[in-house]
Amino acid sequence: MEIDADLFRLDGKVALVTGGSRGIGKAICLGLATFGADVGILGISSATADTVREIERRGRRALFVPTDVSRIDEVRAGVAEVERVLGGIDILVNNAGVGVVTPAEAVTEEEWHQVMGVNLRGLFFTSQAVGQSMIRRGRGGRIINIASIFGIVGSELGASVYHASKGAVVNLTRALACEWAKHGILVNSIGPGFIVTDMTAAIHEQPRLEELLTRRHALGRFGRPEEIVGAVIFMASAASTFVTGENLFVDGGYTAW
Ligand SMILES: NC(=O)c1ccc[n+]([C@@H]2O[C@H](COP(=O)([O-])OP(=O)(O)OC[C@H]3O[C@@H](n4cnc5c(N)ncnc54)[C@H](O)[C@@H]3O)[C@@H](O)[C@H]2O)c1
Repeated sequence: MEIDADLFRLDGKVALVTGGSRGIGKAICLGLATFGADVGILGISSATADTVREIERRGRRALFVPTDVSRIDEVRAGVAEVERVLGGIDILVNNAGVGVVTPAEAVTEEEWHQVMGVNLRGLFFTSQAVGQSMIRRGRGGRIINIASIFGIVGSELGASVYHASKGAVVNLTRALACEWAKHGILVNSIGPGFIVTDMTAAIHEQPRLEELLTRRHALGRFGRPEEIVGAVIFMASAASTFVTGENLFVDGGYTAW
């Protein structure tokens, strides 16, 4: 039996990441490039130019296409542009996400549509656009959805719509895995615990809340964006050829209690 020492390499692959300007998405872009992939990025922030530069510094090609993933027409055009410039997409990482903190009894329709539009509709139609291309090209592919611990547990934090969107992502992942297995497309999700990013910055201004949430992680701390990268490389590479429809928690033991 031969075990390939390059099991995790991604040389010659083209990856597409949504929301790569900062935080977890930026770490994922740099991780994919470090393991050999060229990286296209769909996002809304001009700060993505920094991510592009850092990818190119690693000797890989990078392309940023300004795209609001909640707009299906923009997503389709963005996917087509990445494929025109970088080639057919082998790996999609649906990372872009937003949250609102509003008690469930006060959530507005606008807040509902904002969160669902990015976290669920955007993720679905990006997967569809890339999935159509992967099916057409007939070489399979990988889709990795960034879900959350909040996709399977609740909280008292006023994040009900976010919980709903991430719960849907976890089960959408299973549905797509079943539908597209026949095309060789493996679909998995990652459930991060609390990670130190702009999304969670406000928590650190509330010491009691920060302490409460810190203690809910068995490891007794928040994670760092780069700690999500290993799971992504696993799911993107030959290391996971028999893994699909799975959700891997990278949560410091938040869901282990
Ligand atoms: N930080 C955490 O504790 C945590 C925990 C679990 C899951 N997550 C998930 O990880 C992902 C990344 O989160 P993060 O903490 O890095 O957040 P972040 O706010 O730092 O980054 C989010 C990224 O998404 C982009 N984005 C937002 N709206 C967009 C849109 N409409 N179209 C395209 N791009 C858009 C932003 O520009 C940014 O690049 C999200 O899906 C989030 O729900 C985060």
